[in-house]
Amino acid sequence: MENYNALVENQYHTPGLFEDILERLNQQELDVNKVSRANISGVDEFHVRGAEVSLELAREAELENLKVLDVGCGIGGPARMLADQFNCRVTGIDLSQEYIRTAQGLSELVGLHSKTEFLQGSALDLPFKKGSFDVVWTQHVQMNISDKGRFYSEINRVLADRGMLLYYDIFRKNSSEVNYPVPWADNSSISFLGTIKNMDHILGELGFLKIHTTDQTSKAMQFLADLFEKLKMNGPPKLGLNVLMGKSTREKLGNILKGIEEEKIVLQSGIYKKQ
Ligand SMILES: C[S@@+](CC[C@H](N)C(=O)[O-])C[C@H]1O[C@@H](n2cnc3c(N)ncnc32)[C@H](O)[C@@H]1O
Repeated sequence: MENYNALVENQYHTPGLFEDILERLNQQELDVNKVSRANISGVDEFHVRGAEVSLELAREAELENLKVLDVGCGIGGPARMLADQFNCRVTGIDLSQEYIRTAQGLSELVGLHSKTEFLQGSALDLPFKKGSFDVVWTQHVQMNISDKGRFYSEINRVLADRGMLLYYDIFRKNSSEVNYPVPWADNSSISFLGTIKNMDHILGELGFLKIHTTDQTSKAMQFLADLFEKLKMNGPPKLGLNVLMGKSTREKLGNILKGIEEEKIVLQSGIYKKQ
C-alpha cells in the first residue's frame, strides 16, 4: 500500500505548484488580491470537460447547503464550485500533499477557505466517522484504484442514510489496454480502469439505488478535439491543464482521445442514492 500510494503521489507530483500558479497569474497582470474562481478555472478542475461538466452534474442533484466530501479532490476546483455556487461545506481529500497544499492556497486566494477544507489521505481509508456526509463527490479518481470494492465501501460508510454519490469517471469498455501515458498513469502499474457494469454491481450490492447516469463519451471526444485545435492555433494556455501535466500534456490527453476513438474507454457521470 505504501508503495502504491507513493507511485500515485509521484504520478501527480508537481513541485511548487501553488507558487507556479501564482506566478502565472502575475504574468497575466492579475492582482493576486482580486483573483476569482474564473481566473483559475483553466487549471483547477483536472478532468475531461473541466468546470462545465462539474456544474452540469451538480445541477442534476439538489445540493444546496449540503455537507460534501470530494474524494480525490485534486487542487480543489470542484470543491470551490460546490461551496460557491451551491453553498455547500466541502471537505476534499487527496493522496497528493502538494495538491492539498495548493487546494488550500487557492481557496484562500479566492476567499472560499471558510467553506472548504482539504486534507491529505487515502480514498481507501477515509478518516471520517460513519454517516459524516450528505454527498460524496468523486471525479476521475477510481482509475488509480484497484480495490474498487473497498473504494465504494468507504464511500458508503461515510455517507449518511439517503446520501448521494455523484461521480464522473473514465471506464474501460473491454479488456484492451489503453496507450500510455494517460493523465492518471505513465504505465499500467497504477492504472485500474473498471467497467461501468462492475461499478453498478458493487454499488447495487452495497444497497445503492441508481438515480441517473449520463454517457459523457461523445462530449469528451468533442472537448478533446476542440482542445487540440486550440493548442494548434494558440499554443499552451498560460493557465491550463498543461500546468499539471507539463510536457506530456498532448500525449496524455491524446491517448484518452485515442482510447475513445478505438472504443476502449467510455466516460460516464451519474448519481446513486444510499438507501
Ligand atoms: C485526475 S486527478 C482528478 C482530481 C479532481 N477530482 C478533479 O477532477 O479535479 C486524480 C486525483 O486522484 C487522486 N487519487 C488517486 N488515487 C487516490 C487514492 N487512493 N486516494 C486519494 N486520492 C487519490 C490523485 O492524487 C489525483 O489528485
